[in-house]
Amino acid sequence: MRKLIAILLLATGSLAWGAGVKVPLDKADIDIHDKASKQRGAAIFANYCMGCHGMSYSRYERVADDLGIPHELFVENLIFDGSKIGQLMTGSMDKDLAASWFGAPPPDLSLTARLRGPDWLYSYLRGFYKDDSRPWGVNNVVFKDVGMPHVLADLQGLCAEPPVIGVVAEIDPISGTEVGAPGCRNFATTGSMDPAEFDRAMLDLVNYLEYVGEPSRLKAEAIAPYVLLFLVILFVPAYLLNREYWKDVH
Ligand code: HEC
Repeated sequence: MRKLIAILLLATGSLAWGAGVKVPLDKADIDIHDKASKQRGAAIFANYCMGCHGMSYSRYERVADDLGIPHELFVENLIFDGSKIGQLMTGSMDKDLAASWFGAPPPDLSLTARLRGPDWLYSYLRGFYKDDSRPWGVNNVVFKDVGMPHVLADLQGLCAEPPVIGVVAEIDPISGTEVGAPGCRNFATTGSMDPAEFDRAMLDLVNYLEYVGEPSRLKAEAIAPYVLLFLVILFVPAYLLNREYWKDVH
């Protein structure tokens, strides 16, 4: 038993080490109830991420229904590899080939939000910067020497230096303007979105990844009050029964 506990402790310790990112993160202020935001996130994911990453625990159909997207619209606009709506979102990239291209295969993103958390994802997606010593010419402040290219550079632009992540903007008391906001201070190339727009797009994407990590959460939240109510009602007969049983003992 003691051995088992020791093994368990070691295992959780090493897991924590694996996920142990000690860099400061920006807070992802997402609202999982915001369906429109998740729809926009799903569109970004289909267009910019699914070529490399799958979400093999999800089915297109479930996502379409949960996000309120009609099936025909979903198939037309959000499935590019000819998959049927009932299929799992496995993605089409060959793992071994991908590993040889990128140094590491693009991981399945079904549970990444659960593992990394929304703040990490939000910071990671905004954390790319120019680094000519790396194979794709980019590095990431949150994920050092990452194997992923900066696939959103045409939207965000490419930051010339490590962007500032994990700080909170302050209001300058004299001018009343915001100073020290997180983000890129100096762009090498510009993208089609301004920084505020890009941040909002990344919140949508993170919101979508968060939903995919726990698709039943909204349903569970909706059912919870009824479960509690049931327990409260059940308490009455259980209490009376208990009193009845112990009546003769006391
Ligand atoms: C060209 C292929 C490619 C595309 C497109 C791509 N990625 Fe990646 N991604 C990778 C590779 C390769 C890795 C593994 C990096 C490593 O381990 O060094 C990765 C890693 C990640 C990770 C880190 C996962 C973890 O927990 O370690 C996240 C999160 C991620 N990608 C999100 C995205 C999102 C969101 C998009 C769409 C905006 C996207 N990726 C588009 C190739 C890609």
